[in-house]
Amino acid sequence: EKGGFDHFTIKEIHEQPKALRDTMTSRIVAGQKVKLDDITITKEMLESYSRIYIVACGTAYNAGVVGKTAIESLAKIPVEVDVASEFRYRDPIIDSRTLLIVISQSGETADTLAVLRDSKKKGARVIAITNVVGSSVAREATDVFYTWAGPEIGVASTKAYLTMLIAVYTIALHFAELLGTMTDEETDVIKKEMLLLPDKVSKVIEQKENIQKFALKIHGEKDVFFIGRGLDYAVAIEAALKLKELTYIHADAYPGGELKHGPIALIEKNTSVLASLTQRSLMDKMHSNLKEVTSRGAKVMVVTYESNKTVDSFVDTAVHIPETIDLLAPVLAVVPMQLLSYYVCSFKGLDVDKPRNLAKSVTVE
Ligand code: F6R
Repeated sequence: EKGGFDHFTIKEIHEQPKALRDTMTSRIVAGQKVKLDDITITKEMLESYSRIYIVACGTAYNAGVVGKTAIESLAKIPVEVDVASEFRYRDPIIDSRTLLIVISQSGETADTLAVLRDSKKKGARVIAITNVVGSSVAREATDVFYTWAGPEIGVASTKAYLTMLIAVYTIALHFAELLGTMTDEETDVIKKEMLLLPDKVSKVIEQKENIQKFALKIHGEKDVFFIGRGLDYAVAIEAALKLKELTYIHADAYPGGELKHGPIALIEKNTSVLASLTQRSLMDKMHSNLKEVTSRGAKVMVVTYESNKTVDSFVDTAVHIPETIDLLAPVLAVVPMQLLSYYVCSFKGLDVDKPRNLAKSVTVE
């Protein structure tokens, strides 16, 4: 059942191109409007919402961070993103002018479900993004977006996360089309790029040897730092979570610009720093951040576009990913980070599919 792979986690990482294709099928077609049969929100409804919240836990929250940028930049509606266990106890402002988007792979996460129920009671409309047909969030939400990742057995989420990104992009495009915030030409550029992602993910996976070598260098570390700006910060938080879960190495993620506000105090000779570098308008700023850490002797791995050779001269390992538009780059940039965590885990001889203390579905608070 592991289809020739040693573990479910690595099998599921390799299944990502298919998961992306399946999740886009019939929804994203070049030259056509986005088709979302299970989301019946109209233009008028959308115009009536004063705010959108995206609420989730763990990896699903990390996908929500990308969702905020996607909806704000394409549909021009302000979005707040929060973790469910915080949101539910902070007395958020919810009424009939609120649209809530919950994201949950399993559809059973206790805190996420509680937010859905409370918000519905207060009159909010709820869209659920979930991977499990008939799950609690799917049954109780007003509208559902099913990701088609297929069953995810590895406790650490990989392919489900990638399909959640497709879900938030698709919803953002749909909202942009309903509200007319983009021209057909503009939305078409994004759709065409989305359709190229599955093949590009396969190309990223082909770089596994390069990533494995860096994993060997850092597998004995106690701390690893991840940095990025904009959507690369969203990649950094997901990468840090994956490393913690799979390898038990302490990992933290920081926005590049925050380094000098504290974390740089921790950087010394041989500290491991990983950076995602895909947001073109922030490239130069990230190059400066990288120099700040390499000049202090940090070991650095960077994930960046094929065209960005500038970094090759001053970092230990550069993983080059195919070009795409910046908005979609997290789909490609996170894959080397998943592989890195997988290889570090296997060098340490840990149980990759079932990390200690974690459960696939967290149905209690
Ligand atoms: C991380 C991971 C967890 C889940 C979180 C939410 O790899 O698996 O952080 O993402 O427990 O789970 P769902 O998406 O089922 O609500």
